[in-house]
Amino acid sequence: MEEKNLEALLEEDRQFIPSEEFHKNALIQSADIYEQGQSLGFWEEQAKQLSWLSPWEKTLEWNPPFAQWFVGGKLNASANCLDRHLHNWHRNKAAIIFEGENGDSQVLTYQDLHREVSKFANVLKANGVNKGDRVTIYLPMIPEAVISMLACARLGAPHSVVFGGFSSEALRDRVIDAQAKVVITSDGSFRRGNTIPLKDNTDIALDGVDCVEHVFVIQRTKQTVQMKENRDLWYHEEMAKASPVCPAEPMDAEDMLFILYTSGTTGKPKGVVHTTGGYMVGVSTTHRWVFDLKEEDVYWCTADVGWITGHSYIVYGPLANGATVLMYEGSPDYPNRDRFWEIVEKYKVTILYTAPTAIRTFMKWGPQYPQSRDLSSLRLLGSVGEPINPEAWMWYYKYIGGERCPIVDTWWQTETGMIMMTPLPGITSLKPGSCTVPFPGVRIEVVDSAGHPVPKGSGGYLAIKEPWPAMLRNIYGDPARFERTYFGNWPGVYFPGDGAKWDKDGYFWILGRVDDVINVSGHRIGTMEVESALVDHPSVAEAAVIGKNHEVKGQALACFVTLKEGIEITPDLENELKKHVAKKIGALARPDDIFFTAELPKTRSGKIMRRLLRDIAEGRAIGDTTTLADASVVNTLKANYQE
Ligand code: WTA
Repeated sequence: MEEKNLEALLEEDRQFIPSEEFHKNALIQSADIYEQGQSLGFWEEQAKQLSWLSPWEKTLEWNPPFAQWFVGGKLNASANCLDRHLHNWHRNKAAIIFEGENGDSQVLTYQDLHREVSKFANVLKANGVNKGDRVTIYLPMIPEAVISMLACARLGAPHSVVFGGFSSEALRDRVIDAQAKVVITSDGSFRRGNTIPLKDNTDIALDGVDCVEHVFVIQRTKQTVQMKENRDLWYHEEMAKASPVCPAEPMDAEDMLFILYTSGTTGKPKGVVHTTGGYMVGVSTTHRWVFDLKEEDVYWCTADVGWITGHSYIVYGPLANGATVLMYEGSPDYPNRDRFWEIVEKYKVTILYTAPTAIRTFMKWGPQYPQSRDLSSLRLLGSVGEPINPEAWMWYYKYIGGERCPIVDTWWQTETGMIMMTPLPGITSLKPGSCTVPFPGVRIEVVDSAGHPVPKGSGGYLAIKEPWPAMLRNIYGDPARFERTYFGNWPGVYFPGDGAKWDKDGYFWILGRVDDVINVSGHRIGTMEVESALVDHPSVAEAAVIGKNHEVKGQALACFVTLKEGIEITPDLENELKKHVAKKIGALARPDDIFFTAELPKTRSGKIMRRLLRDIAEGRAIGDTTTLADASVVNTLKANYQE
């Protein structure tokens, strides 16, 4: 890459054009692809890359807000990720290279993975899992997580993966909402040398829940667990008895592939529904082109399979493309702060896809860690989950990419299923901090509140103007919420909840969420979820939660809390409340700050003015307070907050 310094040294004006060498070897070398993306035929062409059991009759049926793609087509996601790679030498290619936190490692070829998935699908089937039944997966980052997902897909049983860092209460809500018949978990998971008791959490979560017939337990940490008779089964015992032959169920393109819960503006997480055909087309195409995938690549996405990034870009996209996927179980600083770079060196990783919060953490630790390792195998870097600030982008470019690797900053969401805005690394000039332009075949604009495009150079709301293959189809069990949340602003136009501006070249710059969702270290947390967790504590009367700028996490949770009559503020109480939130939701939602106040700033109609709380927490001048019922509340708050 060459740095093309434009008029000014302003960071926003820096541009990096693809190097001649990268361009000439890239899968996509011509911008004509954007032209082609303007017709539906484009997605039909991409769909032909997959293997279909019967062809589709109609590419798109769009009855806003409900879309159907590849109508009438039949395929199976697991067969596309496995069976079709078995016919040639590819069967012996590494599908998953696993690195455990303790340094143990394991390689599964496509043939191995196919065998394990088929066996587990048979185990599930023998225990009553049929097409359409929901299965909850609550596991660490181990190969069995991928095996479980693909085994469900093989049977046509939608999976609902719940991130292993969620609490038993969060797990319980998700199991009940999906009415899962089976839960797959492990005895525990490793975390920085400690263990987290996933099976114990599951037992608590399932107490009194009657939809679940069986719990499969994978042995990972070998810690002691209770096995409930007639309900719980050891994975390894069942696998030992299972046949390795299991035909993949022919699924309709619009049959549900999975549910994935994500935070929204109300307290109740939304079960985002993804279906089979369009999702597979979207994730395989984007994975191939955005990461310029070559047969010999070693591709590492550092996300957890519990998030959409893991679903689309550890499991379905890369495996459909026959890639070698590196999977790491643990944290970046265990046992040392060079663990990621040790892994890159050890396996000669060529493509690394990670999150800005991780990059900012590495920056804080200093360049000596990556510098102590050989990172010369890397050829392409990716970023996802939150806006990447130009400073972090430059650091990533310099210290990880050796000023040689393009960075693809990819904007998308749980709901979009696939990457929606991104550079194509062989042709797009990069600007640090911009996710550049929409992927071919995707139509996104920056609009005003009436839904009209704002002039280039201005800011507004992101709006997705046309359906795309991997779009969510519904919110599980709540179509009205689906319609209201995503299509309630402008008819037939999808609203992602993000603010953005586009510059004079039409490049997009994401400004962050404009709804009540906070992005903490790339994890979506609803303010309402945290507020309900706080008021659930016996001492709390009322709570307002906001996202406050944070150097490493992007945003951090700051909570303003009023206590019930007669409750005294003690140093312990703050900690107790933080712990309470972590217990209710999971450690990822543990607040950074709890601030006790006698009153919260409210409008005359009783609405809490979070905007003012944000001003206070970030030490800004307080904005307009004319609509407040009692303006003095803000002044008192501000004075006390600064103390
Ligand atoms: C934010 C993660 C800026 C955005 C794949 C979006 C980003 C939310 C980027 C979705 C990016 C994701 N630049 N912001 N490259 N990628 N976001 O559902 O606010 O966990 O709405 O999906 O993350 O988060 P989710």
